[in-house]
Amino acid sequence: MTLAELLPTFRASLRPRLDPAVWPATARWGGHGDLLIGGVRATALAATYGTPVHVLDEVDVRSRCAEYLAAFGRRGVSYSAKAGLTSGEARWMAQAGLGCYIGSAADLRTALLAGLRPARLVLHGTAKSLQDLDAAYDSGAAVVVGTPAELESVAARAPLGQRVHLRVTPAAAGRSRHRYGFRLGTAAALDAVATVLTSRNLRLAGLDCSLGHQLSRFQAYESCVREAVAFCAVARARTGADVHSLNLGGGHAVAYSGHDSAFAVAAFARRIRTVLRLAADRHAVPEPALTVSPGRALVARAGVTIHRVAEVTQLPDGRLTVTLDGAVPDCTTTADCAGRHTAELAGRVSTAPMRLAMITAAAAPTPRRARRAAASPHRPTSPDQPISPDRANSADQQNSPHRANSPDQPASAHRANSADRPTSALTAVAPGRASGGATGRLAANVLVPAMELPADVTVGDILVVAGTGAYHHRPDPFAGRPPVVGVADGLARTHIRRDTVDDLLRRVV
Ligand SMILES: Cc1ncc(COP(=O)(O)O)c(C=O)c1O
Repeated sequence: MTLAELLPTFRASLRPRLDPAVWPATARWGGHGDLLIGGVRATALAATYGTPVHVLDEVDVRSRCAEYLAAFGRRGVSYSAKAGLTSGEARWMAQAGLGCYIGSAADLRTALLAGLRPARLVLHGTAKSLQDLDAAYDSGAAVVVGTPAELESVAARAPLGQRVHLRVTPAAAGRSRHRYGFRLGTAAALDAVATVLTSRNLRLAGLDCSLGHQLSRFQAYESCVREAVAFCAVARARTGADVHSLNLGGGHAVAYSGHDSAFAVAAFARRIRTVLRLAADRHAVPEPALTVSPGRALVARAGVTIHRVAEVTQLPDGRLTVTLDGAVPDCTTTADCAGRHTAELAGRVSTAPMRLAMITAAAAPTPRRARRAAASPHRPTSPDQPISPDRANSADQQNSPHRANSPDQPASAHRANSADRPTSALTAVAPGRASGGATGRLAANVLVPAMELPADVTVGDILVVAGTGAYHHRPDPFAGRPPVVGVADGLARTHIRRDTVDDLLRRVV
């Protein structure tokens, strides 16, 4: 038996190590088992904003931006807003000197309001709407084009001098995985270059690639660079024009748990520059400027989500299934982070023996379930179903920083009126079916397949899930999105307030 098992009080003084590869840069254990992010206690954030609440560590995002800028240079890094773009994040990116790959007119407006310059903005994504494209044209943002039809449409509508990036896919990549984009080395890709160059209003800004997600090896990027440079040489021979920039996209892996390997940014930049230089020499073309546009790698680690435990069940073998409040985010249903998260109990110290537990999130409500719950928003469907003590304070509505969440001073939150009552009653209506366990096939709503928790974990306890800064703010209008809060220096600032039932119903006609 270990000393920790013999002496419960000794065990209580031991805190699990917060792996710096997984947890935000400023994550620290505080008094009474509380977890601090940006100097703000998790319990204070839960009390002020209700649960679940997404929290972003400003210091972590800024340090990731600095790491990428050091590796790729002042104009070499853009943030891919697909990972999530709040006004605060856009401001941090602008201040750091990053550009931004935006996915919509809403992203564009957020980015411009935050101070990002149009010259550093690029609209990308498949099946862009005319509205999104028009917004890009009006602002002076560049546009990524990936199909002949899209090119035709952009050439027909874009203003004089419109910057266009051609989305290209490496020939080595399987056709099925990369339907969007001109295949390098094909006549279609050469035609696209020629069309841009001969269009009266378009200007070729460069080539753009996206090679996948959660990639920790460099090989796919290296072969893409070789193919892209070979293509630049052919394009030069046919058209006389040089390609001035090559964006390798993002897809850089992050660690969701201690078992994952993250992307070695500085080593990657060195390696890929060497590959680019050698390829350019070999094909006797000028080196295009190299850029990257990561999403997840810049913000995933900075984010945690604070939940309350909604339900605890015990399996015959003693293992626990702990269901958290709030719907499972889209990200967790994909291979990128499904069942790979790390979590910690926060806000109290337990001397109970440890048990193996599986952490699951409640299932996302279907539109029908959401309407039913919205018609009766204060009634949980099951008499046993706890509703977390959701609260909102005025700062939540005003997007202003406030001291209510200082480490030593729990927020004295007041209940919101019914119109503004947060929607956790919606998101907690139906705990998902968790199956499988640590080794079996996991249900889509499993966040952590197996972790040790004190056996007395109970409804209402706070659990903080790490690695939720990217792709976790659900766009699903029926789920009711949790708030997003930025933290730094002991202050919390609302980036996005919680969806209310009224917000959801306002859109229903
Ligand atoms: C062109 C491009 N760059 C970057 C990204 C971001 O990927 P990740 O968040 O995995 O870095 C995407 C995402 O789809 C993309 O399409």
